Amino acid sequence: MEKIILTGDRPTGKLHLGHYVGSLKNRVELQNSGEYDKIYVMIADAQAITDNIDNLEKIRQNVIEVALDYLSCGIDPKKTIIFLQSQIPELCELTFYYMDLVTVSRLQRNPTVKNEIKLRNFEKSLPVGFFTYPISQAADITAFNANCVPVGEDQLPMLEQAREIVRSFNTKFDEVLVEPQALLPKNQACARLPGLDGKNKMSKSLGNCIYLSDSPEEIKKKVMSMYTDENHIKIEDPGRVKNNVVFTYLDVFCKDEHFVKYLPEYKNLDKLKAHYKKGGLGDVKIKRFLNDILQEELRPIREKRLKLQDNIEEVYKILSKGSKKAKIVAEETLKRVKEAMKINYFDDEELIERQKERFSK
Ligand code: TRP
Repeated sequence: MEKIILTGDRPTGKLHLGHYVGSLKNRVELQNSGEYDKIYVMIADAQAITDNIDNLEKIRQNVIEVALDYLSCGIDPKKTIIFLQSQIPELCELTFYYMDLVTVSRLQRNPTVKNEIKLRNFEKSLPVGFFTYPISQAADITAFNANCVPVGEDQLPMLEQAREIVRSFNTKFDEVLVEPQALLPKNQACARLPGLDGKNKMSKSLGNCIYLSDSPEEIKKKVMSMYTDENHIKIEDPGRVKNNVVFTYLDVFCKDEHFVKYLPEYKNLDKLKAHYKKGGLGDVKIKRFLNDILQEELRPIREKRLKLQDNIEEVYKILSKGSKKAKIVAEETLKRVKEAMKINYFDDEELIERQKERFSK
């Protein structure tokens, strides 16, 4: 069986370091592994509208920001189809039919949607489109026959919903749809990179992010402001490594080579941690070290982004080409869905023949 990946992001903000270690880096690895026959990465602008109908300008701007982030991280349009959800009307048509396979109470039980409704204060005025987005997400996945969906844990209920729709459709009609599997991030530390404050996941609304498009100065300022250990006041004080944002990031980004290059008095991260715990190692030193590492990691991404920013028309062209390719595949799936449901009236010669007979009697 072909191995097909589909994944995507809502374009509600620029992508940050949390997206990078939690998903983008992994997507680039999957793309370059040569193990997949087709890879689709979708900018889910239509889904973003479901809770942003009064902020369309925000979505419009972030479509291009997310495209720039994808391309500068190494998602390669020669290997991966990058497309815009709103340009594939077939997804709406599939959603419309899938809606008849799902009950309201089933949607109400979806823990991710439940949580998101609370976060957005939607309890009293819930847009129908937002409530039903898990169904539209099943359309996104099945339209492209994707069997692998790399997502974070919060998206597992969406995958489960999609699988149920697939099984229900295939049982009622014909084995047309492919059942998808989630592909979770391997590394737990990467899956939940904390924000600069150390209290929460990196999130735009909390203002605790390092963005892929940040300048070297912004990165440095943010690293120097990171939460460490409130009891580590004097350099001699013993320090805590757990829940210390600087060390959490070092766990994710630091390699032994970095010590040779930037901090040769330590051999590896264990040695650095041991000194910090014992006392005598100041926060400024570990922050400078982390800054050096992050600058090294983000420099090539930023440089690529700056080049692409000089060529925005080209970026729109990439999205347009990708959307055309994606549309062809979605059209094919929709055709098979309608055939299976026998609502392809004009192509169904047997149906026309039968009706002819019925009325001639
Ligand atoms: N819900 C995803 C997010 O919040 C975006 C998305 C839309 C998606 N459709 C998808 C992800 C299909 C994976 C598969 O970012």
